[in-house]
Amino acid sequence: MLNAVSKHTGTSDRPQHTLTGLTISGNLVSITWADGGESAFHGIWLRDNCPTGLHPSTRERQWDWSEFDPAIRPLSGQIDKSGLLELSWPDGHLSRHDGAWLRRHRYDGAGKAERKPQLRIWDAGIAEDLPDCDANAVLTDDQALLDMLIKVRDTGFALVRGMPRRDKACEHVAHRIAFTRETNFGIGFDVISKPDPNNQAYTHDALLGHTDLPNREMPPGVQFLHCLEFQAQGGESTLIDGFHCAEQLRAADPDAFELLTRVPIAHRFHDGEWDVRWRAPAIALDDDGGYHEIRYNPGVGAPFDVRPAEMTGLYRALGLLAARIKDPANVLAFKLRPGDMMVFNNRRVLHGRQAFDPNTGPRRLQGCYVDLDEWHSRIRVLTGENLLD
Ligand SMILES: [Fe+2]
Repeated sequence: MLNAVSKHTGTSDRPQHTLTGLTISGNLVSITWADGGESAFHGIWLRDNCPTGLHPSTRERQWDWSEFDPAIRPLSGQIDKSGLLELSWPDGHLSRHDGAWLRRHRYDGAGKAERKPQLRIWDAGIAEDLPDCDANAVLTDDQALLDMLIKVRDTGFALVRGMPRRDKACEHVAHRIAFTRETNFGIGFDVISKPDPNNQAYTHDALLGHTDLPNREMPPGVQFLHCLEFQAQGGESTLIDGFHCAEQLRAADPDAFELLTRVPIAHRFHDGEWDVRWRAPAIALDDDGGYHEIRYNPGVGAPFDVRPAEMTGLYRALGLLAARIKDPANVLAFKLRPGDMMVFNNRRVLHGRQAFDPNTGPRRLQGCYVDLDEWHSRIRVLTGENLLD
């Protein structure tokens, strides 16, 4: 797994990072790599990213984007003796770019594809090949921690086995990564059935697949759910890949899919102390049409306030998505054992549980969150990417 990320951290002695030639045409500079590939860069992009302009210590840009003509082009260029791309500019400035840096930041299709993690999209069949991790290794070995971080990044979840059955053990693992995300439910939370619950999780009812806290502008990123006690009958956990369900909908009904990427759905949590609301589409895409996040939690859905012409279509589209979220072919169901911990991307993977009978024994889970910024940052630090410009 480490190899999958270390490809981003190469140095200029790798052949594919070696520059062998360049041509300037209009405001585009095209360079040829030693592996025969070519990449084109806009003059303004190269001038803007000239490393000499960065503060030597903070590595921050020391100008703004009003200073150069967007159509700027270099007067001439060459590959210099040390293999750098050297360009001379109309104002007399000379820029030098390292081949490895250019390779890492090239913005053509190949470059973007190379940087994007390869997601593992799954259905109930993933039960045959679960992304398991060993708790002791995750707690003591950075390589094992990185393996878990990457499993959650790419598959959307990991199952950590053999956790100490101690209070706040999940926060212990979370702190191996970063600080935790606090919400109105606290830093950590106990999932047990309570009298007068303020959240469906604190009952013994079944919970359909949902993402937590879509009523927030930024829902929590990764959720940890650690099983401390489980003797009750029922209560199997469920996980569903929201990206898989969305992809099925995209293939079956592109109009419904498009509606869910555009029309905001209202969610709200309120009790005696809080009233937290946000409106956002159920499916968010990135600029390449890939998946960014899923927000889906009928329990805290607020009355929709969309354009009247889109109301019927929205309900229809949500119904189609809901059917896929409930489809047994898409639902991974399993019983947590004491010492097991589910770790999942709350902005992709929906979670739920089947009803349990609290009279047959205790069921106690403990949870906390770490946001995705910190998750991805930790991966970059463990692979050394953070030290590269
Ligand atoms: Fe939940």
